Amino acid sequence: MLLTKRVDGQSFNIRIEGAGEPILFVHGFPLDQTMWTNQIDHFSKSLQVIAPDLRGFGESSPAEGTVEMKDFADDLSCILDALEVKEPVHFCGLSMGGYIAWEFIQRYPEKVKSLILCDTKASPDTEEAKASREQTAQQVLAKGPEFLATAMPEKLFSPHTIAENSDAVKQTQSLIRSTNPNSIAAALRGMAVRADMDANLKSIDVPTLVIVGEDDQLTTPDVMKEMAKAIPNAQFVEVQQAGHMSPLEQPEFVNQTIEDFLRSQA
Ligand code: MLT
Repeated sequence: MLLTKRVDGQSFNIRIEGAGEPILFVHGFPLDQTMWTNQIDHFSKSLQVIAPDLRGFGESSPAEGTVEMKDFADDLSCILDALEVKEPVHFCGLSMGGYIAWEFIQRYPEKVKSLILCDTKASPDTEEAKASREQTAQQVLAKGPEFLATAMPEKLFSPHTIAENSDAVKQTQSLIRSTNPNSIAAALRGMAVRADMDANLKSIDVPTLVIVGEDDQLTTPDVMKEMAKAIPNAQFVEVQQAGHMSPLEQPEFVNQTIEDFLRSQA
């Protein structure tokens, strides 16, 4: 079921399916909740799945200026309140969704039961990365998202996915193409000013699963393995024949990995 909720003057499109413990799926940049379709179909058989389009993305209201990771985290907390979700959630975020997870667990620890971090990192942008994000923001504002739709698949997907799953690649490209340029720029600027979360990893006290595609060039297995080591009792899983979009590229393996992790908490 797709729901529209108005929160703080913004309209949010949210997919909600199933019943049971809540699991919140938080998409990456510059995508929307449809990237989790395989996970939604699978986990809605046993859990309450909540998959919102973040502010500016998918069918939610467009964004302007700079949207910081803490703003996205506050939106998610308001969405859970508006949906009257009373139990803490399993928070599953990919990439930018992981950057948002760090803010969410700091600001709303009582709302998190466990963390599933896919293809993400805790370190902030370098000065070079910040400058490159601003350049991309200006280019998107001037020319629209087409160049991103053309350039991103090589960075997002493994060579295996590009060769064998052109549907996933094409769907992702069309999603990027349809995203509002102001919203893309706002999220880029928000990611550029995100905080360094490395020092906070040791105080994460919920069960945590760290997942990365073996060919992820944006948040590499080495970086994610170190990150997992810094989180007390985190599990680390590398996904074969996957890049930065591991849940979309290898859905069966990733779903089973998440399911085993959730079972281990029961
Ligand atoms: C994402 O997938 O959300 C982005 O690659 C994150 C980033 O640009 O740092």
